[in-house]
Amino acid sequence: MSTSERLALLGGTPVISKPFAEYQSMGKAEEEAVQRVVRSGCLSGFFGSPGPEFGGGPEVRGFEEAWTAHFGVAHTISVNSATSGLIAAMGAIGLSPGDEVIVPPWTMSASVAAPIFYGGIPVFCDIEAETFCIDPALVKTLITAKTKAIVAVNLFGHPARLAELRDIADTHGIYLIEDNAQAPLGSEHGRFSGTIGHIGIYSLNFHKHIHTGEGGMCVTNDDNLATRLRLIRNHGENCTEMLGGGAITNMLGMNLRMTEMSAAVGRVQLAGVDAHVEAREKIAHKLSAGLQGLAGLTPPVVRDGCRHNYYVWMMKIDEEQLGLSRALFSEALSAEGFPHATGYVAPLYRLPMFRERIAIGRDGWPFSLSERTYADLHCPVTEDMHNRRALLFEPCAYDLSDADVDNLIAAMRKVHAGRGQLNAHLSGA
Ligand SMILES: Cc1ncc(COP(=O)(O)O)c(C=O)c1O
Repeated sequence: MSTSERLALLGGTPVISKPFAEYQSMGKAEEEAVQRVVRSGCLSGFFGSPGPEFGGGPEVRGFEEAWTAHFGVAHTISVNSATSGLIAAMGAIGLSPGDEVIVPPWTMSASVAAPIFYGGIPVFCDIEAETFCIDPALVKTLITAKTKAIVAVNLFGHPARLAELRDIADTHGIYLIEDNAQAPLGSEHGRFSGTIGHIGIYSLNFHKHIHTGEGGMCVTNDDNLATRLRLIRNHGENCTEMLGGGAITNMLGMNLRMTEMSAAVGRVQLAGVDAHVEAREKIAHKLSAGLQGLAGLTPPVVRDGCRHNYYVWMMKIDEEQLGLSRALFSEALSAEGFPHATGYVAPLYRLPMFRERIAIGRDGWPFSLSERTYADLHCPVTEDMHNRRALLFEPCAYDLSDADVDNLIAAMRKVHAGRGQLNAHLSGA
């Protein structure tokens, strides 16, 4: 056997010998945008008092207008992170202490932390095994008189069953909040993900398809929710009179405002969003096409009528069919220079905050308001994906040429073909 056929883990030559270039979405236009703002001397245009500047300065308002037009929504409210947007959304819908919010356990922690800030009780609902998004059939079984909202996370860039979830929410008079942090141009039957729920939240943090360093956008078609989001973003308790004599009294505001510099960068990034997302999708499509038909390995599945933005490209492993453990397959893949992770985040109900039912203060608030417990919770699909099946690659982390993607394919095919070498090595043959 030649050294190029021998697995790198067993002393052969790795397929990929140097690290890939990092993904870079910033360019000259972003640089000029920042300079324009710095020269203006106005790095934030927000005022806390009633008036046009309650909604921010010219860059913030221009960015929001452009976002509104791009996504065809009625309102966009920029914030300083998606986490802030998720928290503001919980305040906007009037979440009350003890209210329940149905959430998936396989997501970034902010999706489930957000309700807790308002005393909400996360109720975990398992995911679908194909797209890894919340399962609407299970959501229905978890709705009670206490349920106020469902959080659908469009995980890895693939939309959850959004129209179905919106129907469920409308039927029960509750809210659908979309955590669309990973799917800026995701879509379901021609409708953008993020725009199907009552509020959709986007992330503009450094790791996303487009970014402003830190940042987030909230979209909604509901005038009342938009007003509440704007108030929460900018110390709204100071100017509820702006809405006609204190029509909104249960309002506690924060400072979740985006800077003029971030917004100026965001305007340029938004103009390039199609190209940036398409480039990530192209990498993923090529990777998936090149890795079809391998026993025990299933590349991402895209549900009919959906667009997947591939913030994460996930290969699903079946250890029995593969004839190898995920851990060993992953070790051999790393030795070939294929950057990846196994598992995503551990099911969030395993966090000490849930297991021990204590989040804020000494006395277990807000869990003290609820009978729900988490220590014995087990969402089988989530556990299976995280513990045994998921192998993740991040198209948003690298700028890859076609040759680079060919090498990724070659590396995975080599390890797949070399399973016999590994097994023979393990058995001492
Ligand atoms: C699904 C999801 N929700 C929320 C967030 C939080 O985003 P931000 O960092 O903008 O607060 C992230 C960030 O990665 C995310 O992936």
